[in-house]
Amino acid sequence: MFSITDSHLGEQASHLVAGETNKIANLSNLAALLMHSIKGLNWAGFYLVDAPEELVLGPFQGLPACIRIPFAKGVCGAAARLQQTQLVGDVLRFEGHIACDVNTRSELVVPIVVAGSTVAVIDLDSPHTGHFTNEHAEQVEAVAQLVAQHWLNWH
Ligand code: SME
Repeated sequence: MFSITDSHLGEQASHLVAGETNKIANLSNLAALLMHSIKGLNWAGFYLVDAPEELVLGPFQGLPACIRIPFAKGVCGAAARLQQTQLVGDVLRFEGHIACDVNTRSELVVPIVVAGSTVAVIDLDSPHTGHFTNEHAEQVEAVAQLVAQHWLNWH
Protein backbone atom coordinates (compact mmCIF):
# COMPACT_ATOMS: atom_id res chain seq x y z
CA MET A 1 0.00 0.00 0.00
CA PHE A 2 2.27 2.78 1.25
CA SER A 3 6.01 2.55 1.07
CA ILE A 4 8.97 4.49 2.30
CA THR A 5 10.21 6.76 -0.47
CA ASP A 6 13.83 6.19 0.51
CA SER A 7 14.91 2.87 1.94
CA HIS A 8 18.05 4.41 3.45
CA LEU A 9 16.36 6.37 6.18
CA GLY A 10 19.07 5.53 8.73
CA GLU A 11 21.77 6.72 6.33
CA GLN A 12 19.95 9.98 5.61
CA ALA A 13 19.45 10.52 9.32
CA SER A 14 23.14 9.97 9.93
CA HIS A 15 24.11 12.66 7.38
CA LEU A 16 21.54 15.04 8.82
CA VAL A 17 23.01 15.04 12.32
CA ALA A 18 26.69 14.85 11.34
CA GLY A 19 28.67 17.75 12.77
CA GLU A 20 25.97 19.12 15.05
CA THR A 21 25.63 18.40 18.76
CA ASN A 22 22.56 20.45 19.67
CA LYS A 23 19.83 17.99 20.65
CA ILE A 24 16.87 20.22 19.79
CA ALA A 25 18.29 21.03 16.35
CA ASN A 26 19.07 17.40 15.53
CA LEU A 27 15.76 15.99 16.82
CA SER A 28 13.87 18.72 14.95
CA ASN A 29 15.54 17.83 11.67
CA LEU A 30 15.02 14.12 12.28
CA ALA A 31 11.29 14.73 12.93
CA ALA A 32 11.08 16.58 9.61
CA LEU A 33 12.97 13.77 7.85
CA LEU A 34 10.61 11.13 9.24
CA MET A 35 7.49 13.13 8.41
CA HIS A 36 8.54 13.73 4.82
CA SER A 37 10.27 10.41 4.06
CA ILE A 38 7.49 8.11 5.20
CA LYS A 39 4.22 8.41 3.34
CA GLY A 40 0.81 8.58 4.95
CA LEU A 41 1.67 10.18 8.31
CA ASN A 42 -0.23 12.83 10.22
CA TRP A 43 2.34 13.17 13.03
CA ALA A 44 6.02 12.35 13.53
CA GLY A 45 8.21 13.27 16.44
CA PHE A 46 9.86 12.63 19.75
CA TYR A 47 8.77 12.32 23.35
CA LEU A 48 11.64 12.70 25.82
CA VAL A 49 11.95 11.20 29.28
CA ASP A 50 11.61 14.13 31.64
CA ALA A 51 10.50 13.27 35.14
CA PRO A 52 11.00 9.64 36.29
CA GLU A 53 8.63 7.38 34.34
CA GLU A 54 7.21 10.31 32.40
CA LEU A 55 7.55 11.51 28.81
CA VAL A 56 7.33 15.12 27.68
CA LEU A 57 6.68 16.36 24.17
CA GLY A 58 9.82 16.94 22.09
CA PRO A 59 10.48 18.17 18.54
CA PHE A 60 7.76 17.05 16.14
CA GLN A 61 5.85 17.72 12.94
CA GLY A 62 2.05 17.72 12.89
CA LEU A 63 -0.77 19.08 15.00
CA PRO A 64 -0.19 20.26 18.58
CA ALA A 65 -0.08 17.16 20.81
CA CYS A 66 -0.41 15.92 24.38
CA ILE A 67 2.45 17.37 26.42
CA ARG A 68 3.03 14.76 29.13
CA ILE A 69 2.56 10.99 28.95
CA PRO A 70 3.22 8.74 31.97
CA PHE A 71 5.03 5.45 31.21
CA ALA A 72 1.83 3.71 32.35
CA LYS A 73 -0.26 5.22 29.56
CA GLY A 74 -0.70 5.03 25.84
CA VAL A 75 1.34 3.51 23.06
CA CYS A 76 4.26 5.84 23.81
CA GLY A 77 4.21 4.87 27.48
CA ALA A 78 4.22 1.16 26.56
CA ALA A 79 7.24 1.57 24.28
CA ALA A 80 9.10 3.55 26.95
CA ARG A 81 8.22 1.13 29.76
CA LEU A 82 8.74 -2.15 27.89
CA GLN A 83 11.67 -0.88 25.78
CA GLN A 84 10.06 -2.55 22.78
CA THR A 85 8.78 -1.21 19.48
CA GLN A 86 4.97 -0.86 19.50
CA LEU A 87 3.32 -1.39 16.12
CA VAL A 88 -0.39 -0.73 16.60
CA GLY A 89 -2.52 -1.34 13.52
CA ASP A 90 -5.73 -0.06 15.06
CA VAL A 91 -5.45 2.40 17.93
CA LEU A 92 -9.14 1.98 18.73
CA ARG A 93 -8.27 -1.56 19.88
CA PHE A 94 -5.29 -0.51 22.00
CA GLU A 95 -6.39 -0.15 25.60
CA GLY A 96 -5.18 3.15 27.04
CA HIS A 97 -4.42 4.74 23.71
CA ILE A 98 -4.17 8.52 24.08
CA ALA A 99 -6.06 10.24 21.29
CA CYS A 100 -4.08 13.43 20.69
CA ASP A 101 -5.56 13.62 17.20
CA VAL A 102 -8.92 11.93 16.63
CA ASN A 103 -7.89 11.19 13.04
CA THR A 104 -5.05 8.88 14.07
CA ARG A 105 -5.79 5.20 13.29
CA SER A 106 -2.42 3.47 13.55
CA GLU A 107 0.85 4.15 15.34
CA LEU A 108 4.48 3.06 15.40
CA VAL A 109 6.46 3.92 18.51
CA VAL A 110 10.14 3.01 18.89
CA PRO A 111 12.05 3.46 22.15
CA ILE A 112 15.47 5.09 22.32
CA VAL A 113 17.49 3.27 24.95
CA VAL A 114 20.86 4.41 26.31
CA ALA A 115 22.81 2.26 28.78
CA GLY A 116 19.69 0.28 29.61
CA SER A 117 17.45 3.30 30.27
CA THR A 118 14.79 4.74 27.99
CA VAL A 119 15.71 8.34 27.18
CA ALA A 120 13.05 9.06 24.53
CA VAL A 121 10.67 7.49 22.01
CA ILE A 122 10.00 8.14 18.34
CA ASP A 123 6.25 8.33 17.66
CA LEU A 124 4.76 8.05 14.17
CA ASP A 125 0.99 8.35 13.64
CA SER A 126 -1.09 7.64 10.56
CA PRO A 127 -4.75 8.34 9.73
CA HIS A 128 -4.83 4.96 7.94
CA THR A 129 -5.66 1.74 9.80
CA GLY A 130 -2.88 -0.86 9.52
CA HIS A 131 -0.51 1.57 7.90
CA PHE A 132 2.79 0.51 9.47
CA THR A 133 4.81 -2.54 8.39
CA ASN A 134 7.79 -4.36 9.84
CA GLU A 135 9.87 -2.54 7.25
CA HIS A 136 8.77 0.79 8.71
CA ALA A 137 9.67 -0.52 12.17
CA GLU A 138 13.17 -1.55 11.05
CA GLN A 139 13.80 1.81 9.40
CA VAL A 140 12.67 3.78 12.43
CA GLU A 141 14.63 1.49 14.76
CA ALA A 142 17.75 2.40 12.73
CA VAL A 143 17.02 6.08 13.44
CA ALA A 144 16.44 5.31 17.13
CA GLN A 145 19.80 3.50 17.32
CA LEU A 146 21.52 6.44 15.69
CA VAL A 147 20.03 8.85 18.22
CA ALA A 148 20.97 6.50 21.08
CA GLN A 149 24.60 6.39 19.88
CA HIS A 150 24.84 10.18 19.85
CA TRP A 151 22.64 10.92 22.87
CA LEU A 152 25.35 11.48 25.49
CA ASN A 153 27.34 13.73 23.13
CA TRP A 154 24.38 15.97 22.37
CA HIS A 155 23.50 18.85 24.66
N1 SME B 1 -1.30 8.44 20.78
C1 SME B 1 -0.10 8.43 21.57
C2 SME B 1 0.13 9.76 22.21
C3 SME B 1 0.99 10.68 21.42
S1 SME B 1 0.23 11.42 20.15
O1 SME B 1 -0.33 10.45 19.24
C4 SME B 1 1.21 12.47 19.33
C5 SME B 1 -0.14 7.34 22.62
O2 SME B 1 -1.15 6.68 22.80
O3 SME B 1 0.87 7.16 23.27
